[in-house]
Amino acid sequence: MKSLRIGLLGLGTVGAGLVQMASGDGPLSTIIEIVGVSARNRNAARPVDISKYEWFDDPCALAANPNIDVLVELIGGANGKAKEAALIALQNKKHVVTANKAMLAEHGVELAQIAAQNGVEIRYEAAVAGGIPIVKALREGLAANKINSIMGVMNGTSNYILTEMQKSGREFASVLADAQRLGLAEADPTLDISGGDAGHKLAILSALAFSGAPDYAAISLEGIEEIEPVDLETAQFLGYAIKLIASAQAHDGKLRQSVRPTLVKLNNPIAQVDGATNAVLVNADPVGTLTFIGSGAGAGPTASAVAADLMDLAHGDARPVFSGPCIGREVFETADKNSLAAKFYVRFRVADKPGVIAKISDTLARHQVSIESFLQKPPPSTQNVAIVLTTQICNEDVLIDALHELSGLDEFVDKPLIMPLHD
Ligand code: HSE
Repeated sequence: MKSLRIGLLGLGTVGAGLVQMASGDGPLSTIIEIVGVSARNRNAARPVDISKYEWFDDPCALAANPNIDVLVELIGGANGKAKEAALIALQNKKHVVTANKAMLAEHGVELAQIAAQNGVEIRYEAAVAGGIPIVKALREGLAANKINSIMGVMNGTSNYILTEMQKSGREFASVLADAQRLGLAEADPTLDISGGDAGHKLAILSALAFSGAPDYAAISLEGIEEIEPVDLETAQFLGYAIKLIASAQAHDGKLRQSVRPTLVKLNNPIAQVDGATNAVLVNADPVGTLTFIGSGAGAGPTASAVAADLMDLAHGDARPVFSGPCIGREVFETADKNSLAAKFYVRFRVADKPGVIAKISDTLARHQVSIESFLQKPPPSTQNVAIVLTTQICNEDVLIDALHELSGLDEFVDKPLIMPLHD
């Protein structure tokens, strides 16, 4: 096996985890040599000793350095220094190994072209679901399958928040503040809670499964900010957990890709995944349904994924960046955003006045939306009350039309929350 000379860009949690693996007595230490490192702050406190590596203030100088074979990019961000350094490395005929889902989701096509032109590879196991080898599973293990759907919990921060809200009955903002205090959520958690981070990961998996080209813009994104304790409590009562589900479904030549809060039946393995754990379900022909569960972040799991890519590069098993089950598949159209046919959960926030329930059921009936269950808890001290219903299977655009009609009425104090049910 060939020995690889590494330039390591980024010495945060994952970078330090990789240094630890490279300096240990595992297989990685026998095949790679870290030649140079670069990070924002040379003197930051770190759990590993970096003094024996050449230091580069400029990430781009490290990327262009003739003494490295591979740039390991672990600074993140769709643009900026990460992309600049990755481009320089590829143009200088160096492989790139990255955990940067935002960069691949938003610029993957451009980067893959430059990699091909220069005869080098981009590897990115660590970009999706941390330690779970889902990229490798799709690229290699399932390469000859026809993928029907991919769905999962791909953002640990939002899953931690939903799990804690469920357990404690506390509000979103208070649990988010805790997650930040504990260092689980970023100082700016926007991408995690808005669905953007899971969307980046889904774009990469969809590219492998369906299209060969990440298309982040085609993914419809909704976050968890609107979820209230009453939703989690009611979902549980109905036999469901609320999860931020990233999903790509191919059907009749159309591809539907979304990240949205979803009620998942409690007996589904995804509903059991609590805290910062990730889970991915793949349904494919002829293999059937496979479930992958594990740590989606952290030093050990993510460094393990980076190390696996380095081992593969050392073995010399080259293949195009987004090759996999997508090869030879039909070209999918993007499914219309609100054309999903499913059962739905709807939570209304209304003024507690006579006749409100009659108005809801009358309006839904006129739109041919059939109600499966209907719940109103006795109001607390406030004037506003939560009314929750679930529908039988209907088209989401029909449901939205009905809710739009209701939104004009004085009793409806807030936009209703809609979530699909996954049985
Ligand atoms: N911020 C991500 C999460 C971890 O919360 O899952 C890295 O992808």
